[in-house]
Amino acid sequence: MGQGPAGRAGGPVIAVRPTPEQGPALHAEILAALPEFWGDRDVRSLHQPVWLRQFAGDAVVVRGGEVLLGYLLGVVTAGRLAYVQAVATRLPARGRGVGRLLYDTFLNSARAQGARRVEAVTTPNNAGSVAFHRRLGFTAEPVTDYAGPGHDRVLFSLALTPLGPRRAEHAPGPGSYPGTPRSDLPQGR
Ligand SMILES: CC(C)(COP(=O)(O)OP(=O)(O)OC[C@H]1O[C@@H](n2cnc3c(N)ncnc32)[C@H](O)[C@@H]1OP(=O)(O)O)[C@@H](O)C(=O)NCCC(=O)NCCS
Repeated sequence: MGQGPAGRAGGPVIAVRPTPEQGPALHAEILAALPEFWGDRDVRSLHQPVWLRQFAGDAVVVRGGEVLLGYLLGVVTAGRLAYVQAVATRLPARGRGVGRLLYDTFLNSARAQGARRVEAVTTPNNAGSVAFHRRLGFTAEPVTDYAGPGHDRVLFSLALTPLGPRRAEHAPGPGSYPGTPRSDLPQGR
């Protein structure tokens, strides 16, 4: 669990990792609230059940009191890659650090699992996503036909510094993600 920025949502703002058992109910909660996070964009295909059933343990949610302020769907692979399928902050809560808190929580856990790189993908017209990811230190590479002919995407990529008692003492190199040291997560595999 991580503490976040001061919220105006009627309670402390906290980041939590859902348990696999909580995944299905969280999936239903997110699907019911999609317009409050994405406006009128049809993003149901980004929210396949697998992300909150098989991969629920890698997801992160941020709540302010009872209100779901943001969520991140992702997975950490055995190949040391962390992948973010979707990250979203409820419209009225944007610009207050919820997105950064989602990524901090996900990446601290990913690094503790041994991840060395994080990637995410967005559509070229999603300027907000590009600005947000660049602000977090990601590179943004336009890839023609990424999702098939005529479906270009922007691929975000960021190296992760290893997490560990010795390595964490050193400043991260350029283009890498320092994250926030956490004492409540396992250290390495
Ligand atoms: C992208 C998104 C998740 C950002 O969430 P957020 O909670 O507003 O982001 P934060 O407040 O944590 O911002 C983190 C940093 O990114 C910057 N940032 C965020 N959105 C930005 C934007 N649209 N333009 C420029 N900078 C932006 C913030 O200024 C902040 O910088 P700082 O920490 O140095 O002050 C949110 O806009 C969103 O839900 N968009 C719709 C869903 C989407 O497109 N998701 C991404 C594709 S999967």
